[in-house]
Amino acid sequence: MINVTKTYLPDKKKYKQYIDEIYASGKITNNGPLLKKLESRLAQYLGVKNIVLVANGTVALEIAYRTLGLKGLAITTPFSFVATTSSLVTNGLLPIFADIDPESLNINPKNIEPLITSNTSAIVATHVFGNACEVEKIAKIANKYDLKVVYDGAHAFDVRYKGQSVLNYGDISTLSFHATKLFHTIEGGALIINDDALVEKARYLINFGIKNQEEIPELGTNAKMNEFEAAMGLCVLDDIQEIKQKRKVVYSRYAKELKDLVVFQKQNENILQNYSYFPIVFESEKQLKRVQEALNKEDIFPRRYFYPSLDTLSYIEPKQHMQISRDISKRILCLPIYSELEEKIQNKIIDILKSSL
Ligand SMILES: Cc1ncc(COP(=O)(O)O)c(C=O)c1O
Repeated sequence: MINVTKTYLPDKKKYKQYIDEIYASGKITNNGPLLKKLESRLAQYLGVKNIVLVANGTVALEIAYRTLGLKGLAITTPFSFVATTSSLVTNGLLPIFADIDPESLNINPKNIEPLITSNTSAIVATHVFGNACEVEKIAKIANKYDLKVVYDGAHAFDVRYKGQSVLNYGDISTLSFHATKLFHTIEGGALIINDDALVEKARYLINFGIKNQEEIPELGTNAKMNEFEAAMGLCVLDDIQEIKQKRKVVYSRYAKELKDLVVFQKQNENILQNYSYFPIVFESEKQLKRVQEALNKEDIFPRRYFYPSLDTLSYIEPKQHMQISRDISKRILCLPIYSELEEKIQNKIIDILKSSL
């Protein structure tokens, strides 16, 4: 069975050595030595100032909102994974959607400004499939109206924008290190925080709000990453260049073979991308379903990602209708892409696509 992605498992011996270290120290969670090591290696590798590791990408978003003290309304994208929206709702924030650009698939900055009211506290945007948002335009709007900017960078690990990590834009960017991601820690996530003064607050928010033995100044939660997860991250990080290089080969093959058949996401011209997804946009949902069925028959399971559009979620009030996002979400499919995808399987996928279009 071929799925849209396959978890990268690093060398077992290397992982076992870390497990031996964990057993020797007896420290399995609570800001342990492997977590600290991973934080410092990741900060250096990504080129970011402050990184706080957490239990997953969903809680990373929640901690970001709480660290920034967001209230009221947040302008956000309807075309993302459900966690971008649900994390707002669970934190008492009202998602107000701004429709996307049909080519980049990211929030369209032009649609943000007309939605801003005195109750708006933030813009929450996603670098969809690792494609950088129009970060400068978004920063300009945020400065004009004194709004915070949170980027859901779950897909943007190692994406460079104008020579530096795209995660350095916005007040906070979040990452997901779920097993399906380019870089993973089994389950995990991170916050990239620009303002040094906020790092300490985020650290105690992930530890029940406890600042020290006497003070619990905030309503916190438990969002800590454990040592077994950090160990996995250290192993995967050793191999990340090779993983990326292999994905680039798969990505380039799809790009070459499918360019006249389907529409691709338009990449921001200032980025170096990470090859983590290969989304294709069909003419119609009917065409998508035909291709999906043909692939499924051969035990190949691409993913309808992101589907459905988040403005259709039943728990969203007030009701909103994002025409472009609804339309794209019905016509987009992410093809299998991972470092170990064999050329012969990929050729089969390409052949099925060609013959069913
Ligand atoms: C865009 C986006 N945001 C947030 C998340 C949530 O991350 P996690 O699964 O680590 O909670 C994901 C994960 O799949 C995602 O793709």
